[in-house]
Amino acid sequence: MYEFATGLNQMEALSLDISADADHAIVWQNDRLYLLDQRLLPDEEHYIELHTCAEAAAAITAMVVRGAPAIGITAAYAVVLAARAGFAQSATGWLRLMQRDLAVLGLARPTAVNLRWAIERMERVALGLPSGDPEAALLAAAVQIHQEDVAANKRIGEIGARIVGERTSVITHCNAGALATGGYGTALGVVRSAFAAGLIDWVYADETRPWFQGSRLTAWELSRDAIPVRIITEGAAARLMGEGGVGWVIVGADRIAANGDVVNKIGTYNLAVVARYHGVKVMVAAPTSTIDLSVLNGERIPIEMRSPDEVLSCRDRRIGAPGVDAWNPVFDVTPAALIDVIVTERGAIHLPDANKVAELMNS
Ligand code: MRU
Repeated sequence: MYEFATGLNQMEALSLDISADADHAIVWQNDRLYLLDQRLLPDEEHYIELHTCAEAAAAITAMVVRGAPAIGITAAYAVVLAARAGFAQSATGWLRLMQRDLAVLGLARPTAVNLRWAIERMERVALGLPSGDPEAALLAAAVQIHQEDVAANKRIGEIGARIVGERTSVITHCNAGALATGGYGTALGVVRSAFAAGLIDWVYADETRPWFQGSRLTAWELSRDAIPVRIITEGAAARLMGEGGVGWVIVGADRIAANGDVVNKIGTYNLAVVARYHGVKVMVAAPTSTIDLSVLNGERIPIEMRSPDEVLSCRDRRIGAPGVDAWNPVFDVTPAALIDVIVTERGAIHLPDANKVAELMNS
């Protein structure tokens, strides 16, 4: 049993009848929702069972599950839990009760648009249902969102690998892998497909302070698939690019604005600036569910601020000088002008701008 840093604690942790792997970070089994606890990786492979929509919201906030598409998929299953609880309370008033829970779920994390996207899609399904128990129909819709995400990632992988084109090393940031999605991954989907095509020398995983998604999660996931991965500190990226041999920076996205600006894990912007200086290309791999046409540019996207403790401590041990505070924005905006290509399941946008993004979304 583990306590959450925020919100409720004491969720039940169970061993599931499957072996933990990155493609099964989100599991719906026997009418229950289970999440692989990403806070514990790579040391422990442990699932948490979620009983309610509020627990799922707390798990998203506490980063038991993280990564934009994975947050959206978890939210879709959380809608099923909300509808179940609502229907148990009132066969006629379940929709209203469910919507009350969804208002809280929608606030679990502010930046990844996939959360809102999944809730709205599930809510539309709920609104169209006839009277009676909504659970089966909503579960089918959640499973569809999950399966569509995996299919999108495979397509992104194919398109992205073709663009990589020739054998090279790549740098990736954060974890945009199977763990962060329904499976296969976005940026790591491109890496997987490119590796299968013989195009990858090394994957350099930025450790990605302060939460270490790179050194803990990306390195775990790729090494399990025998894809050659080395961990680097964020500060080593410029030196590495300067030495040559790195053709691409490949990252995911939490939200892409209408003009092609990309909000992703803090440090992505640094990488893109350094990449441009060294003539290294930048690829953003993301499903269209991450594109938010309602925001004109990246500066209008809310950037999540998290606790200074995440910067000041490591594994519950304080490392910052006593009495000193920290500033902890966890995402940044990479201007479209620094991005060579955005790869989605519908195709690639080279040198993105508002017209090209709109064209892809209308295709
Ligand atoms: O704070 P996190 O770990 O949820 O941030 C995740 C990222 O920034 C990922 O790069 C992004 O969500 C893309 S995941 C396919």
